[in-house]
Amino acid sequence: MEINGKGAIVVGGASGMGKASAQALAAAGARVAILDRESSDGKEIANEIGGLFHAIDITDFEGAEQALAAAVEDLGSLHIAVNTAGGGTVKKTLGRNGPHDLDTFRQVLDLNLVSTFNLNRLQAFHMSKNEAEDSERGVIVNTSSIAAFEGQIGQVAYTAAKAGIAGMALVMARDLGPQGIRVLAIAPSLFATGATAGFTDEQVAPLVADAAFPKRMGRPEEYAKLALAIVDNQMLNGQCLRLDAGQRFAPR
Ligand SMILES: NC(=O)c1ccc[n+]([C@@H]2O[C@H](COP(=O)([O-])OP(=O)(O)OC[C@H]3O[C@@H](n4cnc5c(N)ncnc54)[C@H](O)[C@@H]3O)[C@@H](O)[C@H]2O)c1
Repeated sequence: MEINGKGAIVVGGASGMGKASAQALAAAGARVAILDRESSDGKEIANEIGGLFHAIDITDFEGAEQALAAAVEDLGSLHIAVNTAGGGTVKKTLGRNGPHDLDTFRQVLDLNLVSTFNLNRLQAFHMSKNEAEDSERGVIVNTSSIAAFEGQIGQVAYTAAKAGIAGMALVMARDLGPQGIRVLAIAPSLFATGATAGFTDEQVAPLVADAAFPKRMGRPEEYAKLALAIVDNQMLNGQCLRLDAGQRFAPR
C-alpha cells in the first residue's frame, strides 16, 4: 500500500517502537494519529510530526472503541494501524508464595491480547469502508515478542498473550482477506526502549549474548522500518515476523 496520503493510527505511539513508527509514517507522508495514555508524551510527539493525539486506555475496551472512532473521524479515513501498546509482568507458574494468581494472568492477557483483538476488529471495521486501491483497503501491524515462541522463566502470562497475537495474524488475515485487509505481527527481541534504553554496554551484553549478529538491542527505528515495509509490500500477510538478530531466548 502506498503510504503517502493515507490515514494511520499508532496505538502506543508516544514511546519506543510506536513512537518511531509514528515518526516514520509521518515522514512517508501519512496523516498520523497517536493514541496513547493521557499521561504520555503523545501530544508533544503528535505536534512534532504534524499529527493528532487522542488519549486511550486500551484496557478500557469500550473507551478504546470511542477513542478509535474519534481518531478515525479526525483523520478522515483509516488505512494503516500499528498497535504497539502492551507490556508484561514477571511471575512463575509456581513461585515461592504459591501458584501464579489468575488476576495477574488475566490482566496481562487483557493488556496485550484482548486489547489487540478489540482494536483489530474495530480497525478492520473502519478500514472496510475505504475505497479499495489495488484491491486493498487496509493493513494492521500488531506487536508480539520472541517470548511468544521461547518465553523465559517468569514470562508465562506474557508469552500466552504474545503467542495469541502471533497466532491470530493468519486467522484474521483469512477472515479479512475478502475486504482486502492484511494482518501481521512483529516479534521483536530486546529493543532499546523505555527503561532498557539507558542500559550500559555491560548490562546489555548478557542479554544479547545468544543473538547471532548483531549482538546488541534493537533500535526502535528498526521496528518502524519493518512496519513500513509490511505496509508497502502487499504479498506480506498472515504471519508473525521475528525481528531478532537471530536471537533465541534461553530459559533465563
Ligand atoms: N522493548 C522490548 O524489548 C520489547 C521486546 C518485545 C516486545 N515488546 C513489545 O513491544 C511493544 C512496545 O514496547 P516498547 O518497548 O516500545 O514500549 P514503551 O514502553 O516504550 O511504549 C509503550 C507505549 O504503550 C503505551 N501504553 C502502555 N499501556 C497502555 C494502555 N493501557 N493504554 C494505552 N497506552 C498504553 C505506553 O504509554 C507507551 O507509550 C509492547 O507491546 C511490548 O510488549 C517490547
